[in-house]
Amino acid sequence: MPTAIAVRDLRKSYDGIEALRGISFDVQEGEVFGLLGPNGAGKTTTVEILEGYRRRDSGDVAVLGHDPSDAPRDLRERMGVVLQHSENLSLLTVHEVLRMFGGYYESPRDVDEVVALVGLADKRDARVRTLSGGQKRRLDLGTALVGDPDLVFLDEPTTGFDPAARRSAWEMIRSLRALGKTVLLTTHYLDEAQQLADRVAVIRAGQIIALGTPADLIGETRRAEIRFRRDGELVTIETDEPTRVLAGLTAEALSAGRELEQLEIRRPSLEDVYLELVEEPEDA
Ligand SMILES: Nc1ncnc2c1ncn2[C@@H]1O[C@H](COP(=O)(O)OP(=O)(O)O)[C@@H](O)[C@H]1O
Ligand SMILES: [Mg+2]
Repeated sequence: MPTAIAVRDLRKSYDGIEALRGISFDVQEGEVFGLLGPNGAGKTTTVEILEGYRRRDSGDVAVLGHDPSDAPRDLRERMGVVLQHSENLSLLTVHEVLRMFGGYYESPRDVDEVVALVGLADKRDARVRTLSGGQKRRLDLGTALVGDPDLVFLDEPTTGFDPAARRSAWEMIRSLRALGKTVLLTTHYLDEAQQLADRVAVIRAGQIIALGTPADLIGETRRAEIRFRRDGELVTIETDEPTRVLAGLTAEALSAGRELEQLEIRRPSLEDVYLELVEEPEDA
């Protein structure tokens, strides 16, 4: 599969503080790639360098075959960026906003098609200020789609959303994927990454500390948690050798004629793995 984004040893400091300490990753065309990490990890810095809004200090970056710091026209034509503040346009209608954004592109999509795509057909002529929060986010997404981009950047697209609005944003992102778009998404929500991303890079303090499919990241650990009750007390055993430990426990219980009450074995979720990664001491 062709590469949409290639990042090699990307570094960026602000006033001597290293925000990106040499990160490398590739995003394939048609992939939804998640940059996952806590606040201050360097997600926005990465995205804005890729969008051409910030300068890198060093490293190589190619976005759809271009260096974004040259801001080539061809790249801007093929890239969609979700704006966070369409409120400024509150007196315009949905259709007018999309027509305006479409005007920045050489070959925009048909505006009514985009209105329908983001599910705002019944709000086509409504002013932006009358839209609900979720509808405004759909419009934001529409502004990213009206140029018919191949690549869409979404920086924390659902932060601050209520659960229903998050679900509809997820639907929207899935529909981008179904349209064959490449999506680079940042989030600090684990479930979001797990739901949406084909692959995830976990970034912490400017470094990538894990990269792979959500299943890969979970699979990397053999750790399991065995729980049961003994005399009413909860016993929890964490182990990298669940088979051996469990065999020992069951053998012991069988020979004593006891039951391992409420026996449970739990594999870590992506959330457990993520928290473990993010909370590990640095340079470990
Ligand atoms: N314009 C800036 N000037 C100075 N420091 C910045 C600037 N932007 C980001 N930083 C710092 O760089 C680090 C990474 O920030 P950012 O890329 O915004 O992380 P994230 O998006 O993952 O929360 C943080 O320590 C942040 O305080
Ligand atoms: Mg950010």
